[in-house]
Amino acid sequence: MTSKIVSSPLISSVTLGNVQLAHRVAMSAMTRLRMSPKTELPNDLVKLYYGQRASKGGLVISECAYVQPDGRGYVRAPGLATDEQAAAWRPVTDEVHSRGGVFFAQLFHAGRVSHSSLVGNKPTVSASPVGMAGQLYVEGGVKADYEVPREMSTQEVEQLSASFAAAAQRATKLGGFDGVEIHGGNGYLLQSFLAKKTNSRTDKYGGPIANRARLLLEVVDAVSAAVGAGRTAVKIQPGITFSDLVEPEEDVAETLDYLAPELSKRNLAFVDLSSCNGEPYYRFVGLPGPNISFDPFRRFRSAGYKGNLGINGGLGVEQGESYVAEGVADLVIYGVPFIANANLPDLVAAGVKTAGLNAGGFNMKVWYSKNPQQDAEGYTDWPLAAPPAAQA
Ligand SMILES: Cc1cc2nc3c(=O)[nH]c(=O)nc-3n(C[C@H](O)[C@H](O)[C@H](O)COP(=O)(O)O)c2cc1C
Repeated sequence: MTSKIVSSPLISSVTLGNVQLAHRVAMSAMTRLRMSPKTELPNDLVKLYYGQRASKGGLVISECAYVQPDGRGYVRAPGLATDEQAAAWRPVTDEVHSRGGVFFAQLFHAGRVSHSSLVGNKPTVSASPVGMAGQLYVEGGVKADYEVPREMSTQEVEQLSASFAAAAQRATKLGGFDGVEIHGGNGYLLQSFLAKKTNSRTDKYGGPIANRARLLLEVVDAVSAAVGAGRTAVKIQPGITFSDLVEPEEDVAETLDYLAPELSKRNLAFVDLSSCNGEPYYRFVGLPGPNISFDPFRRFRSAGYKGNLGINGGLGVEQGESYVAEGVADLVIYGVPFIANANLPDLVAAGVKTAGLNAGGFNMKVWYSKNPQQDAEGYTDWPLAAPPAAQA
């Protein structure tokens, strides 16, 4: 028997804006809370982690990094709010590049999904003063209740796009990233404008969907102008149930239908449409999925999005392959599967399917570090499965 490479629709080249990829298995942004204590800068372990997950011609998206100080949402997560923070990523981006990888930085502002003690003992900020249920970890490893945020003034909102653009420039120029992904999901600041539950504004950023989406599109335009549309991506998650955000199905449809033609016009590197719809990730975090009755990826296409589409959320290898083969998706963005399968693209190329992957990442205990002495555990210490030689 001769061995041959099993063909997978995921293993084919694609051009996304300024970026040329050899395959379509991308790594999703994942916050792992392993930045150095206190400085919150990336370190050698972070470099090892991303290097392990880099592949020739494969896209890796970094964990979210805040664009300005009041956007911080976690202890030991990174920022790209200063030149020092951006420059500290250079050894990590060099490592990913040395393995042939393409590396985008994810930019975010946590909005209300934070705590006053994380943002200089001032109230958190959001679209409107709508608090959220639940607790988060603050300094010292203790938990605190989420608070009611302060409503940002119109002028403050108008300045946000420049802040995202400055962070994008820092990330690419000083940090060495190939591009950036704007985080428009997870209930963070940009999604707090999009969702009706968290936006009761009466200015040009509140009311109809065109107003609620204004900030997201302003940010997309400013970042595109700063680093080029071909290096700009945006992640949207209409319908997610994180951050105490539950949107009715008609709102999810309205957001997708409005954003599809708007984002299509902008010729971005790609749109990352994330929708778990009740799939494994939600079950592991103990939340119900959005449970929408339509397929969000197909809906986004039929609503007029013609650009590069990355799809994400509870997808297995087989599902990713089908969406690419059908022409719905250009890129399949995997999160949890990358945690315990650092060489996921090699495994897919060798014909390994979902059932053959290491499922160790589906254990929330390994997601975040609570003790700097044990940062490597569940982070960089996964045994690497050798891709089996595919048989003819
Ligand atoms: C530990 C962990 C951290 C995450 N952090 C981020 C993040 O920083 N930014 C983001 O956009 N999504 C984040 N996510 C969500 C993933 O990017 C992805 O959207 C989600 O896990 C669904 O995809 P999957 O089923 O392939 O994992 C995180 C997920 C996990 C498991």
